[in-house]
Amino acid sequence: MNKAWWKEAVVYQVYPRSFMDSDGDGVGDIKGITSRLDYLRELGIDVIWLSPVYKSPNYDNGYDISDYQDIMDEFGTMADFDEMLAEAHARGIKVVMDLVVNHSSFQHKWFVESRKSKDNPYRDFYIWRDPKEDGSRPNNWGAWFGGPAWTLDEATGQYYLHLFTPQQPDLNWDNPKVRDAVFDMMNWWCEKGIDGFRMDVISLISKVPGLPDGEKAPGAVYGKHDPYTVHGPHVHEYIKEMNRKVLSKYDLLTVGETAGVTVEQAAKYANVDGSELGMVFQFEHVESERKFGKWTDEPETIGFVRENLSKWQYDLEGKAWNSLFLDNHDQPRAVSHFGNDSEEFREASAKMLATMLHMMKGTPYIYQGQELGMTNYPFTDVSEFRDIESINACREWVDTGRATYEAFWPCLVFKSRDNARTPMQWDDSENAGFTTGTPWINVNPNYKTVNAKAQMDDPNSVFSYYKKLLTLRKRYDVIVYGRYDLIMKEDPQVFAYTRTMDEKRLLCVCNYSDKQAAFELPAEFEGADCLITNLGRENVSGGMTLKPYECFVLYGYGKRYGNMEI
Ligand code: GLC
Repeated sequence: MNKAWWKEAVVYQVYPRSFMDSDGDGVGDIKGITSRLDYLRELGIDVIWLSPVYKSPNYDNGYDISDYQDIMDEFGTMADFDEMLAEAHARGIKVVMDLVVNHSSFQHKWFVESRKSKDNPYRDFYIWRDPKEDGSRPNNWGAWFGGPAWTLDEATGQYYLHLFTPQQPDLNWDNPKVRDAVFDMMNWWCEKGIDGFRMDVISLISKVPGLPDGEKAPGAVYGKHDPYTVHGPHVHEYIKEMNRKVLSKYDLLTVGETAGVTVEQAAKYANVDGSELGMVFQFEHVESERKFGKWTDEPETIGFVRENLSKWQYDLEGKAWNSLFLDNHDQPRAVSHFGNDSEEFREASAKMLATMLHMMKGTPYIYQGQELGMTNYPFTDVSEFRDIESINACREWVDTGRATYEAFWPCLVFKSRDNARTPMQWDDSENAGFTTGTPWINVNPNYKTVNAKAQMDDPNSVFSYYKKLLTLRKRYDVIVYGRYDLIMKEDPQVFAYTRTMDEKRLLCVCNYSDKQAAFELPAEFEGADCLITNLGRENVSGGMTLKPYECFVLYGYGKRYGNMEI
């Protein structure tokens, strides 16, 4: 088994716009992050994944970059960044940058040049096509956040491709000059001392030549582009080249956001031979398609979560490394999406979910506020949304008649990316201590009770529980490297699994339900140490009745369990 620092690390995702505002303009910034590094050290995380801080006109909150080597005005300056990096490193915290290179902003100088004329040296940096004979778009693809994937540029009479918004033109990775420009930029950041990259939609960078029309789902306006854009013909070749020219020269954490990834593909992207990336994000457990595409208003069920997470645990064993996450800036809040955010069960289920995830094999990712059990926001009106995807969604589903407003609205409220983007809840002062100004997006009204200040000194808080989980990962290497095995595969309430490494064994038991559940301790774990439990259980033996959302983890060594030194 190959050991690596990033396999032993816990990553914390910072969404800078919503983390901490230092200057009262209502928008989080880099100095704000620096001011909260001690909080992160206290939590015990090892790495920050920083969502984009680069220069950007913010059509997609920084995922549309107009200068890869400069900082967004609202977030501060490069000097602020350098200070933050040094201060993070001084606390033993590494910093991983978001790398958004499937597309740039339409304001990037490459695109500004590219659209000037057909023979501009940068023309081929992007994907331009002539209209069809009748003047219509080159193909029927729809864009990810609604509308067509092509926009006509009047000046030169050609369309350019954008898999996301029209302000995010796709870069042409088939052009070696594009690849070199991206690799130079990446080397520049590595020389600065950053510790890795999270690669935005990296599975999309190679498109199938000819860009054929996509199939249309019943009632859909546009064709699906995924079969021609996801894991395209040269994607592995380009990532291998990136590895040779950049990644292999440094000791980095690399994680690819790989929409639509299968186990087979993941094993290529994150092959243990190290020729591409360290790990990938897969989305099978967060993207159930039950109502209107990704839009639904039902929390995920134990069966769905267990089946998907276990599949990735088993199938990547020995082939590639897993990343473990339940939420991020594109997902609803974990406790609302997977657990139960009622007053009665919020804390218990947040701790249970954390246990379920952090005891698995892979590198865990905590999304800001998850460690407090922050919840979805009670949206009541479209005007409260800031996210382009959420704003466009009604148009895509309701205006086209594929869903009624009544049926769609609760789904939008439940799955909107803005649930994750409400400000971090630091304390119970105005605006949750996030800003002294007017926040760019509403603060969740539950900040009076759900906030960091209240939780840091409370040994029973969700925050303190996370701290303990993180300490356990440092102390017990079976949690990092042990083999995963599911037990009670079909149980309707209990999600339980073991981890095994040589003589060391771990048992993780989670009641993934709001009812009591029966659990019989496997005899081999009688007398094992209880490492952590969320509801104060004292007796772990024989037949037990688990409380709703109760969980615990047992550790044993060899054949003699109990208080063994390790
Ligand atoms: C990724 C990002 C998301 C962004 C999209 C386009 O999925 O996580 O926030 O909107 O790519 O860059």
